Amino acid sequence: MLELLRWTTLHPALVHLPLGILPLAALAYAMAVVRRSERWTFAADMALFIGAGGTVLAAGFGLVAYLVLDWPSGWAPWPVIHLALGASSTAAVVSAAVFRGLTRRRRMVASRGLAAISFLLVLAAAGTGWVGGEVLVFHGGAAVRAAGDGLLAPPVTWPEGPPSSVADAMGRLRSTWAANNGALTRVLVDRPTEPRFREVAENARLIQQLARWLMREGPELTGVGGAGFDDEEEEVGAERRRHGRGATAREHLRQMAGDLLARARSLEDAALHQDVLEVMHRQGELTAACAGCHQHLRWNRERD
Ligand code: HEC
Repeated sequence: MLELLRWTTLHPALVHLPLGILPLAALAYAMAVVRRSERWTFAADMALFIGAGGTVLAAGFGLVAYLVLDWPSGWAPWPVIHLALGASSTAAVVSAAVFRGLTRRRRMVASRGLAAISFLLVLAAAGTGWVGGEVLVFHGGAAVRAAGDGLLAPPVTWPEGPPSSVADAMGRLRSTWAANNGALTRVLVDRPTEPRFREVAENARLIQQLARWLMREGPELTGVGGAGFDDEEEEVGAERRRHGRGATAREHLRQMAGDLLARARSLEDAALHQDVLEVMHRQGELTAACAGCHQHLRWNRERD
């Protein structure tokens, strides 16, 4: 159950080196400027060099984690923002270190400009760390086993407007469903409270909106699911054979979205009545509606 090292957890372990030492470099450059001191400059340079080495290591394993992790749907654009910030702050720290390496014999005492740049490097590293620590790990639980490796993450922000695709709608369904799982888990292991029921009812309302959108727009979107089964007679034929009753994939999607809508309505009802047992049953049924549709339309396709 326990492992000494994992590809995905090396990055969050390593980032502490640059995040810890770069502020020391900045403070030491500031002291060097104030005191016109070669010794403080030397200490700052060493901290910068070690910080640059640590940054490269952390960034390298960050890229590994980015590639290895199965990012939950609906997380965009946060993983990419973190990657871009990480790559640019690494480039900045390494450039500063290389610049210092080339010029330190000529300038034994740090300049004001260098001190200012080192503070900017700290800000860049902190911003990158905030996205990684706050959004991806604290909120999302990326690569945290107890958080379902991020699959149980509630929404980060609720996007404006209707979904742009079926996958986008699914990302929103995942996060609202996950928020309700979290709320109901707290009801179970802690206690039922009014705000928790209110949260469940509110999320169930959002799920209803998404289900209505799926009923209306889902079947019309060409290439539903990115695999294009809507447009391909062969695939539709296969769906028909599989389900009998002449149901096409489109009709099926509409029906199952209708099922999801009905279940989300009963969940909202139960939550408004603050009925613990009823709410638990309804969340289970809602989850089964997700699984049912996935079984027919997501996992059951030849091309998957
Ligand atoms: C009406 C059918 C239907 C229902 C109901 C449904 N799904 Fe889906 N879901 C799909 C299809 C089809 C895909 C594949 C979409 C794709 O590959 O673009 C999918 C894919 C997903 C994905 C992966 C999306 C991605 O970016 O690859 C997630 C997560 C998901 N669904 C969550 C849920 C949850 C949670 C529920 C229930 C609250 C749910 N779905 C209910 C049809 C449905």
